[in-house]
Amino acid sequence: MVKLNRRQFIALGTASMGTALVGNWLYQEKKSSQPKPLSSANLTPVYQSSNGLLELDLEARESLVNLGGQQASLLTYNGQIPAPRLEAKPGDTVRIHFTNNLEQPTNIHYHGLHIPLVGNADNVFLKIEPGKQLTYEFQIASNHPSGTFWYHPHLHGLVAEQLFGGLAGMFIVRGELDEIPELKAAQEEFLVLQDFSLDNRGKRADSAHMSLMMGREGDIIAVNGQANPSINLLKGGLLRLRILNASPSRFYRLALEDSAFYQIATDGNSFSEPIEVNELLLTPGQRTDVLVKASQESGQYRLLNLPYDRGSIGMMGGGMMGRRNNSDTPIVLAKINYKSTVESLTLPTKLAPIEPLPEPQTVRRFELNHGMNPAVGMAFLINGEPYDRDRLHTQVQLNTIEDWELINIGVMDHPFHIHGNAFQVISRNGIPELLLAWRDTVLVKRGERVRIRMPFRDFAGKTVYHCHVLDHEDLGMMGNLMISA
Ligand code: C2O
Ligand code: CU
Repeated sequence: MVKLNRRQFIALGTASMGTALVGNWLYQEKKSSQPKPLSSANLTPVYQSSNGLLELDLEARESLVNLGGQQASLLTYNGQIPAPRLEAKPGDTVRIHFTNNLEQPTNIHYHGLHIPLVGNADNVFLKIEPGKQLTYEFQIASNHPSGTFWYHPHLHGLVAEQLFGGLAGMFIVRGELDEIPELKAAQEEFLVLQDFSLDNRGKRADSAHMSLMMGREGDIIAVNGQANPSINLLKGGLLRLRILNASPSRFYRLALEDSAFYQIATDGNSFSEPIEVNELLLTPGQRTDVLVKASQESGQYRLLNLPYDRGSIGMMGGGMMGRRNNSDTPIVLAKINYKSTVESLTLPTKLAPIEPLPEPQTVRRFELNHGMNPAVGMAFLINGEPYDRDRLHTQVQLNTIEDWELINIGVMDHPFHIHGNAFQVISRNGIPELLLAWRDTVLVKRGERVRIRMPFRDFAGKTVYHCHVLDHEDLGMMGNLMISA
């Protein structure tokens, strides 16, 4: 329940996303589909902080929602797919009165935020039973980077299922980056990418055992809970798109028809300058922030999802469990319409400076693989072990810098995510990484060795690192990390 007497307001976001094409999930568009105005209920609500406080009620519950024109029974925060967007500023206090009205225990992880890891903050060891409440409260440090973060459940064993049910929303920190005049002038839009699997009555379909091994994917792709929405680029021909992959396993290989992206940030952190790219691979958990420039004449760009092969469980051959995302046809995710009359805004030249990190005090190795476990069949392992909640797999000291070598010796790609602290990629397969960037999730392809460097500057406590193909995480590819003062 939203308490309207609180000071922050609920704004209805993305007013320009006023239309959705209903019922055509695929590239082949059916002629019968009509653009249909959305009711305001279909727009993602936004909660913004005011006077240094972001406070809201958040309830996890199963709800009937309109998913791209089709009725679906999904797991929601406040009845919304995607969940409400939260917006705060560095220095703000965040207070979320959370109620779990699911039939399972749950909790909330604030993915990418650099906030305390213990107490009622970004603490994935909390367990909120059905019918119970918990108030999350934390402060966003005044030097916190501005960027696109997100929140989702993180109770080990249930993470994939609860995200596949729909529980995910954006958490925006607005700050310095947003004050850059060119970015301020651009039209800002938000795309939350999710996939779902429904039976013919709109109920969530069960995932087969083998699809859990591969990482479950649904045949319905929703963008902000809609099928193939249209964005009308109104002002200045410059669009800022913040994109989140909130799917449990699906990778999105994004491209714009007839245009490039100007990428300004990866995960929550900005680059030092925009980088022109033709394609963007977004693994589960990752975010990207891009600018799109309209061309001179009126027209439309289609945002495509291109095929990507993230590997397969080799011994079973191709078939059902292999090559899941390797359908031959690109899928249209959204459309961007623009008019010729607009006067084109310019791209920014400088964003936020990034400092390279000093040499590490410690170097560790993490081997990612899968193997057999008597209890569950196939298990997903880090350094040969499945997750054990009572063990401390890795212990580090505050005020140190570490290099982690992430080595994928398996046959599937694994996007590796670390809670609480961002890192820089140093090299891939021994080749130095030239692009200086902060990330919280990095893809380690099958056969690949990725070296990352990470400072532990503040926030002692226990947290986790894991594969963000969430079935792999639930099946054991996670470790506990103790950061000691
Ligand atoms: Cu978005 Cu530990 O995850
Ligand atoms: Cu994985």
